[in-house]
Amino acid sequence: MTRVSIVGGSGYVGGELLRWLLPHSGVEVAQVISRSQAGRPLAQVHPALRGQTALRFVAPADLTSCDVLFLCLPHGEAQRQIDRYAGLAERIIDLSADFRLSDAAAYERWYGVEHAAPTWLPRFVYGLPELTREELRGAHYASGVGCNASVLLLALGPLARAGGLRRVVADVRVGSSEAGAAARATSHHPVRSGALRVYSTERHRHLAEWEQVYGEALPVAEVTLSLTAVEMVRGVQLLARVDLREPLAGRDLWRIYRSAYGEEPFIRIVSGTRGPHRLPEPRVVAGTNFCDVGFVAPQPASVPQQACGRITVVAALDNLGKGAAGSAVQCMNLMLGLDEREGLRFAGFYP
Ligand SMILES: NC(=O)c1ccc[n+]([C@@H]2O[C@H](COP(=O)([O-])OP(=O)(O)OC[C@H]3O[C@@H](n4cnc5c(N)ncnc54)[C@H](OP(=O)(O)O)[C@@H]3O)[C@@H](O)[C@H]2O)c1
Repeated sequence: MTRVSIVGGSGYVGGELLRWLLPHSGVEVAQVISRSQAGRPLAQVHPALRGQTALRFVAPADLTSCDVLFLCLPHGEAQRQIDRYAGLAERIIDLSADFRLSDAAAYERWYGVEHAAPTWLPRFVYGLPELTREELRGAHYASGVGCNASVLLLALGPLARAGGLRRVVADVRVGSSEAGAAARATSHHPVRSGALRVYSTERHRHLAEWEQVYGEALPVAEVTLSLTAVEMVRGVQLLARVDLREPLAGRDLWRIYRSAYGEEPFIRIVSGTRGPHRLPEPRVVAGTNFCDVGFVAPQPASVPQQACGRITVVAALDNLGKGAAGSAVQCMNLMLGLDEREGLRFAGFYP
């Protein structure tokens, strides 16, 4: 059995990883590291795990070797200790932003500081299986992907690869768990509850990931991204107005998205014409590893012909699921040669 451990296991992403990994048939959770909770049962911090495990949190100094190590630390921490972690585990999946960019200069430009371990950057595979599946097979190091970057790349990637994008203006509506378990001024209940707070309207760091992946197809200067904090705990929803290079009809969009995602186990095309759930909603994908992607093309008969060059793309995922721990487990499965879907089959709940 493959032994996996989690550093930063008392946080939200760590808890979500445990939810996927404890029942996983191919791995055994060995150690869960926390500075603040060392010695306490996991379920004291992650109450949904009650009765599922007798494990207790372990102090960072007591981390021992394992086969796969998940790092769920705040930004900047993993890069400082990557040599130590690599000495303890043959395979590492880092969920932070530390190893998402493969180029040190790009990292400095976007994050405003020098990377502490630049030689490690090209060794990490960008951990979005829909983009890097073949590189992930058998890989030793994989990065996480920003949850907002995940929804942006998955929603617009098929159009970018088809050479169809001219300009994107997108808003991403985000739930409060995106900011992690520690209380902050912006996550305080009276500030967050009922919120519709627009922020990060100019230069969100997750655009660095767009630049790295699709910068040649559409320069980042043509992508406008804002975030809006909304009344949700889990969930991310992207609403993008997209100017196309050439007008596309609905059937063209179906063809492009079907050819990109028809075989993907965790991407669903949701672009209906009836019922209340015609387009992707975070609520439907909560707790799952799905990203739902949909689009609306104006009907040529009902609007001037030139308007068909502008479409709306909507996508939704769970920031802790497909936006973090779910994709990380999918990466692990590929790295270990397991069925990619193993442990991730939870279909969600409704209503
Ligand atoms: N939340 C999301 O939706 C999301 C999505 C994608 C990616 N991510 C990324 O995933 C990582 C973890 O996110 P999260 O939401 O789980 O954060 P979190 O809830 O704040 O958890 C981080 C954990 O790391 C530990 N920690 C904090 N500071 C540390 C330090 N200086 N040294 C060592 N350990 C430290 C803390 O545990 P102890 O104090 O108990 O040690 C804490 O529980 C972040 O890099 C985040 O950007 C998050």
